[in-house]
Amino acid sequence: MKGIILAGGTGSRLRPLTGPLSKQLLPVYDKPMIYYPLSVLMLAGIRDILVISSPQHSGLFRGLLGDGSRLGLRIDYAEQDSPNGIAEAFLIGADHIQDEDVALILGDNVFHGPGFSQLLQSAVAEHEGCTLFGYPVTDPGRYGVGEVDAAGRLVSLEEKPLRPRSNLAITGLYLYDSEVVSIAKNIAPSDRGELEITDVNRVYLEQGRARLSRLGRGFAWLDMGTHESLLQAGQYVQVLEQRQGERIACVEEVALRMGFITREHCLRLGRSMAGTGYGDYLLDVASRFPAPAG
Ligand code: DAU
Repeated sequence: MKGIILAGGTGSRLRPLTGPLSKQLLPVYDKPMIYYPLSVLMLAGIRDILVISSPQHSGLFRGLLGDGSRLGLRIDYAEQDSPNGIAEAFLIGADHIQDEDVALILGDNVFHGPGFSQLLQSAVAEHEGCTLFGYPVTDPGRYGVGEVDAAGRLVSLEEKPLRPRSNLAITGLYLYDSEVVSIAKNIAPSDRGELEITDVNRVYLEQGRARLSRLGRGFAWLDMGTHESLLQAGQYVQVLEQRQGERIACVEEVALRMGFITREHCLRLGRSMAGTGYGDYLLDVASRFPAPAG
């Protein structure tokens, strides 16, 4: 499965933090925002990733992540001239997707919770058509909203409805088969002038090929579009990391645990940041990681 991180947009609600800086590079406690969605794709076992950003920020993402080889990944870059809608990612990313399945994740979404790696890997293994992830929220009208029947089957999808039919928000992580490219090519822009991801999902739903996986109680899904939600996400990460001593979305650690890089390589990455809390953490994780037998 290929991966796409959509990290464009203007970040207008976060001004004056954004402008010359991309929202998805802002710090979320101890690391840049994009590490969080990147770690989700990596935990799903995805190693071939396209980062889509606005043209003025593309160089910043390249500077941070390079070609991905440092993390045992392949990372390519593409630009979205203006925020014409989330589903435009499939038109921009058509050459990257080719005829493979693809996971799209929004660059401002944090996912964290027990069993998430397992859930992701099963979702990828069992994936057909379109897989969405639903999360109960108190304010569903701010999101795409999914309605399920008594058997848990997805029956309707609406974008930011005035009267939501359920409290299940559709999160910014989506799995598709390669048909998503032709589906995205055939949807019309919405009243907002955008190619809406919910319209793509609705096509799969009408074809009976969309399923919803529910992220349950105790799970954290946070998006970071405002100053409040950005701070809350940082505080969430800080509380958990300081309490447990384990870092969330530490992409080098994920690369090690997923077998994308060796222990020696991880030690080198840690040494390159030695003397920082992050670098010392990496050194500690790598030194305790089981060395290959023999
Ligand atoms: O976060 C989940 C929600 O994301 C879903 O529940 C909604 O169905 C979906 O439409 C989307 O809603 P948002 O209101 O959060 O969409 P927004 O326009 O804020 O875009 C989300 C992120 O994607 C944001 O960080 C900017 C980026 N983006 C957005 C658009 C429209 C792009 O990179 N390019 C774009 O063209």
